[in-house]
Amino acid sequence: EKHITLFSSQRTTVRMWKVALPCLLVAFQCSLPLTCAFSGASPSLARLNTAASARLGDAAVGRADRTAATSLSAVKMEDPLLLRAARGEKVEYTPVWMMRQAGRHMQVYRDLVKKYPTFRERSEIAEVSTEISLQPVKAYGVDGCILFSDILTPLPGMGVEFDIKEAAGPQLKPIRTKEQIDQITIQSDWSKSMPFVKQTLGELREEVGNTATVLGFVGLPYTMATYLIEGGTSREYLEIKKMMYSSPEILHKMLEALAENIGNYANYQIESGAQVIQIFDSWAGHLAPADYDIFALPYQKMVVDAIKKKNPDVPIIIYIAKSGALLERMAKTGVDIVSLDWTVTIDEARERIGKDIGIQGNLDPAVLYGPKHIIKERAEAILKQAGGRNHVMNLGHGIEATTPEESADYFVKTVQAYKH
Ligand code: CP3
Repeated sequence: EKHITLFSSQRTTVRMWKVALPCLLVAFQCSLPLTCAFSGASPSLARLNTAASARLGDAAVGRADRTAATSLSAVKMEDPLLLRAARGEKVEYTPVWMMRQAGRHMQVYRDLVKKYPTFRERSEIAEVSTEISLQPVKAYGVDGCILFSDILTPLPGMGVEFDIKEAAGPQLKPIRTKEQIDQITIQSDWSKSMPFVKQTLGELREEVGNTATVLGFVGLPYTMATYLIEGGTSREYLEIKKMMYSSPEILHKMLEALAENIGNYANYQIESGAQVIQIFDSWAGHLAPADYDIFALPYQKMVVDAIKKKNPDVPIIIYIAKSGALLERMAKTGVDIVSLDWTVTIDEARERIGKDIGIQGNLDPAVLYGPKHIIKERAEAILKQAGGRNHVMNLGHGIEATTPEESADYFVKTVQAYKH
């Protein structure tokens, strides 16, 4: 439990250096290809861990310390845990992160909102986006560090403007005619419109070293199109559905342009440092199967194919809300991991999509409002069913804004302490 203590409360830099200094010394004493006695890991790893620890503070020190405590001489340690797990490799413990982990539920984030009041500032000033992305890594020691951004962030690069209002969420001028859709541009050089994403991802890789995996993400064409056509958040998606049934060719045109852009943009994130890509079709679970197969699935595949063509080794995770009925279809896209919401059990999912594909999830985010023993019981039931292989622990959807930070922390620590 030593690492848990190190992780948790406020520690001084003195404490940090107590761990970091010997580590640094050992790192310098060891030389390749000798195995470093300190951790059973390579000297370069020890150095990386130390460097990252020094920058990241307590979270990384805790992680470096845990790596040292576990005898891992047989395990290749160059890559971070979640990345290895996402590739289907056997890992020391089940990696864990939380969708929407950076943001509203954290006090440090709410404090930063006072200084940078708009979402676009927070996500498009690289230094601020980096700082926010790191907040849950520092606070909880999550194994995944997701880029702080939004699925709509690439829109201006395609010639579409958007705004995000603190209370109402995304707001856009609705795009509903062929003429408007023709104006969506195909972006081939994302470094022009989104240099901040490259900078943030580079900084994140540098900051976390191999103590966490850096995740990039994109929205998939159907879900993106709901925002473009509805003009914002929707409950029933009636405008996009009207277009779907009355002028499907126009919708296909939009979806195609989005798919091409999003595929390129995902590759740009990978070139910039993202080690895993999560693709969100959050609202595709609202479609009838016949429509899903025409308006969602082919465009999901276009994005997956574009990523796999350029970056075949980068694991892809697909997420759809209310996806209980869609698991087989999700697995068929060619992704490496299917992210479940909480309406199915891991056992049911395994029965339906097999043992070889990865599974992510799937704790109901509302469980984090329950007492600790319930969080532990529910999280461990998932871990037990998943059996420690081909599994990344997560929530079934984004963490809720009013979730107590202590509960999020307890969830993460419970998963990381679980022995299969
Ligand atoms: O929640 C999901 O289903 C994930 C896919 C998704 C994201 N943004 C990814 C994201 C969706 C559907 C959106 C649209 C969006 N953008 C919404 C949802 C509105 C709706 O229709 O229900 C909102 C509120 C935004 C604006 C936004 N995005 C804010 C205010 C924030 C800050 C963090 C927060 O949640 O308060 C974000 C961040 C965001 N959007 C991340 C991701 C993956 C950040 C990275 C992370 O920590 O996961």
